Amino acid sequence: MSDLHNLLEKAYRTNDLTKKEITYLLENHSDEDREELYTYALKIKQKYYGNKVYLRGLIEFSNICRQDCLYCGIRVSNTKVQRYRLTPEEILACCGQGYKLGYRTFVLQSGEDLWYTEEMLVELLQAIRKTYPEAAITLSIGERRTETYQSLFAAGADRFLMRHETASRELYEKLHPTMRFEDRRACLNALKDIGYQVGAGFMVGLPGQTNADLAADLCYLKEFQPDMIGIGPFIPHSETPLDAEKGGTLEDTLVMVALARLLIPDSLIPATTALGTLNPQGRELALKAGANVVMPIITPMSVRKQYALYENKIGGDDPPEDCRYGLESRIQAAGFIVDLSRGDSRQFIAGK
Ligand code: 5AD
Repeated sequence: MSDLHNLLEKAYRTNDLTKKEITYLLENHSDEDREELYTYALKIKQKYYGNKVYLRGLIEFSNICRQDCLYCGIRVSNTKVQRYRLTPEEILACCGQGYKLGYRTFVLQSGEDLWYTEEMLVELLQAIRKTYPEAAITLSIGERRTETYQSLFAAGADRFLMRHETASRELYEKLHPTMRFEDRRACLNALKDIGYQVGAGFMVGLPGQTNADLAADLCYLKEFQPDMIGIGPFIPHSETPLDAEKGGTLEDTLVMVALARLLIPDSLIPATTALGTLNPQGRELALKAGANVVMPIITPMSVRKQYALYENKIGGDDPPEDCRYGLESRIQAAGFIVDLSRGDSRQFIAGK
């Protein structure tokens, strides 16, 4: 038996690995070890969540952003994007469409667009809450003041997605010229303290990212104990300074998804759109490596192509109904069952 086998078995049994062990594993695994890792991750997912896959309707309501992240297609410096904003009425109508399709979680995502003031967002959240009392509302709108996070929570937001992007301070600072490493972590801590179910996460294959950096990402997650974990490959965008870089691979991303499942076993982990963009089977493979959430896009068709954090994003031409039913059959074909309930994290339910 290889030492890798022992390490994987330990991860499966204890849900714990040191940073050194993770780095070792990332440096030395064979194709066979990888398959074993996916099998363990799938088993752990089934133990905690069965074969269920939760669906979330994703509404990308503005591609206007004040930040300038080097990797992102909607960074403020990219003058080539046609910018858009949905009005609160349009966002509410979009929730209505999603509701009809069966979604009971709405994810409201945007660039960091301060045009949507705290007051506007509060009013919007109250309206969604009132119209769809049993639905969960997830925000993914970036960094705001703690008081704003508090008001939005009080107005009805349940969850908040904010990837930490990378746990390496050096890399974070290089990639985010307009942001601070400490602020990101402070926001994540504040969101958790307020009572949101919080999603953190990172990209795989960023320029200059080492295996030790990726191990640090998992250690950070282990320590932070997020409810949700978003992991996707970095995909270079032609209108950014990173256009000539290589980007993350399917295998490297799947390995990180599987390790996240082993180390934070009760988390909700999406099979990300970026992974589906990289490989037509990417999301199914992620579901078989420990992921248990899919986030179909329900953004209005008229603006959908403009929300391009990276290029060739899947789903650009599929109306919401096609997304919904197409995905359901793919999820079933992969051996899983679609669950349309709110799908709160087990950690959250246990703490209630
Ligand atoms: N490739 C892959 N993922 C990206 N994101 C932003 N730009 C890219 C890119 N070029 C991710 C970031 C962000 C999330 C919404 O999308 O991790 O948090």
